[in-house]
Amino acid sequence: MATQAKVEEARQEYYHRIEGSSLGALWEVLHDLVPDEPKIVARPHVWHYNEIRPFIMEAGEIITAAEAVRRVIILENPGLKGRHSITPTLYAGLQLILPGEIAPSHRHTQSALRFIIEGDGAYTAVDGEKTTMHEGDFVITPSWTWHDHGNESDKPMVWMDGLDVPLVGLLNTTFHEPYPEERQPLSRPEGDSPARYGMGLLPVGYERTAPTSPVFNYPYERSREALEGMRRAEEWDPCHGLKLQYVNPVDGGWAMPTMGTFMQLLPKDMTTTPYRSTDGMVYSPVEGHGRTIVNGEVLEWGPRDVFVIPGWCRHHHEASEDAVLFSFSDRPVQQKLGLWREQRGNEPATGVTGG
Ligand SMILES: [Fe+2]
Repeated sequence: MATQAKVEEARQEYYHRIEGSSLGALWEVLHDLVPDEPKIVARPHVWHYNEIRPFIMEAGEIITAAEAVRRVIILENPGLKGRHSITPTLYAGLQLILPGEIAPSHRHTQSALRFIIEGDGAYTAVDGEKTTMHEGDFVITPSWTWHDHGNESDKPMVWMDGLDVPLVGLLNTTFHEPYPEERQPLSRPEGDSPARYGMGLLPVGYERTAPTSPVFNYPYERSREALEGMRRAEEWDPCHGLKLQYVNPVDGGWAMPTMGTFMQLLPKDMTTTPYRSTDGMVYSPVEGHGRTIVNGEVLEWGPRDVFVIPGWCRHHHEASEDAVLFSFSDRPVQQKLGLWREQRGNEPATGVTGG
């Protein structure tokens, strides 16, 4: 009978031989391919705005928005070095536009969200309509729509870009096209989309033609008002405080097909119940200070910071003062595919579909 060493030698020789025919033995990698639960490669991390702002402003001195096309400093997760990603499926960066600059028009299959961090009065134009952006606004540029940005104010403007770049890359469905002019022509007056779709009304006979919300700017003022109105009922979710999701008014689903977006209020002194879900979350606080403890690691945060909680990492929040936080993740994709799971406190994990 062959010794174990001989058996192993024969196996290795076999693996080597079949590799030459572009074949491999599943049993050698089965545990890696099908682990018992998600492998967490991304790291919890916080970028403090006051520390990185000088780098962002310095970018404004070394390259113009026109040369850069998009002058963005990538927020690269320290666990995903070289992948230009903040979670395995999502990209995030901070974009700077100086007064008088234009980021030229283009379109791509990746969907993009903008969350305004600093400044007021720059615009994003999407498919012939312009919207003026203010701090805390959530702005959408849907897949394959022409978009350009310009700063007609007298101050620099910085926003967080969130895109599904790694996800679209994995599916190998990336297309990009520059517009022949720097700016696309405007075909509708500013305010047309919010009037048509953003007031709890829809034009009679309106038919949905795209998977993304026709409202492409969700102003902070209104999100904040909703949270403030709801807090009077004093019904706090132990894991989330008050957490709202941005919706497409046409069908009540997510505002974007690949990225779920949220606005959340944590009242002063609230410590939330530990929670985890399979979607990695990117947060940007708008108001208030606090900390989030992720698998024992403490992330201190305040307004304009960005922090990331990788998927399936147990975490809780502690608010030192009333705090309002924007966040986004790939939850719509996970839910559509029936893959999303969450676990609240010590309850068993549950999977939810829909949304
Ligand atoms: Fe773009």
